[in-house]
Amino acid sequence: MTDDSSTTGGGGRQSLPDSYFHDMYRSSDDPWGFATRWYERRKYALTLAALSSPRYGSAFEPGCSIGVLSAELATRTDHLLCTDVSPRAVELARRRLDGHDSVDVRVGDIVSDWPSGRFDLIVLSEVLYYLDDADLDAVIARLPDSLTPTGEVLAVHWRWRVEEYPRTGDEVHDALRSSPLHPSASYSDTDFCIDVMSSSSTGSVAQREGLVSAEPAHGTA
Ligand SMILES: C[S@@+](CC[C@H](N)C(=O)[O-])C[C@H]1O[C@@H](n2cnc3c(N)ncnc32)[C@H](O)[C@@H]1O
Repeated sequence: MTDDSSTTGGGGRQSLPDSYFHDMYRSSDDPWGFATRWYERRKYALTLAALSSPRYGSAFEPGCSIGVLSAELATRTDHLLCTDVSPRAVELARRRLDGHDSVDVRVGDIVSDWPSGRFDLIVLSEVLYYLDDADLDAVIARLPDSLTPTGEVLAVHWRWRVEEYPRTGDEVHDALRSSPLHPSASYSDTDFCIDVMSSSSTGSVAQREGLVSAEPAHGTA
């Protein structure tokens, strides 16, 4: 999805064109209020708390916007790759992340510029509902081969319907939950949902820390 004449999609609504986001950043340097709203601060706190490890080697955050969540992720990762289709967002994210030598921020499309290699963490925050069926399927299909053996995907999306978006956050998470990844945690409230999935069943945090040795009697997440 690099121009406004994208024809991907199998009959449903098309991915939002890049121009939609260029226009948003033309009207504001923080169109969603990421740096100012309590809503966002709370959502970021829950997002970061849902990660099962204190620290990750390599991480990828497509659709990073102006880098507010990226700045938090930078403190928990050895190397963080952030991309966004908006050159203005990338410029603002680079400014915010100045001084974090381990962070690389680039202009890039989540579908056509998906990086090669494997990551310990992939964060999909408020970016998948812009994609049409074919683009969403393409991203979800890439996830297993883009993770290290203990790698983790965290997805978080707004649940309210937005007229212009091809799908809702719940539809995104339903699609993710039917992928071959192992579910490890989920959170949902009226506004947003979070799912954490891993490439293999690596056990719960308590199991990994040796707090328990038995299989959970209550089932897994
Ligand atoms: C709602 S913001 C999410 C920001 C950030 N992930 C967060 O949660 O703080 C969505 C961002 O995704 C970017 N975006 C939209 N479609 C994209 C695509 N196909 N590839 C990469 N970035 C995209 C937009 O430019 C925008 O900055």
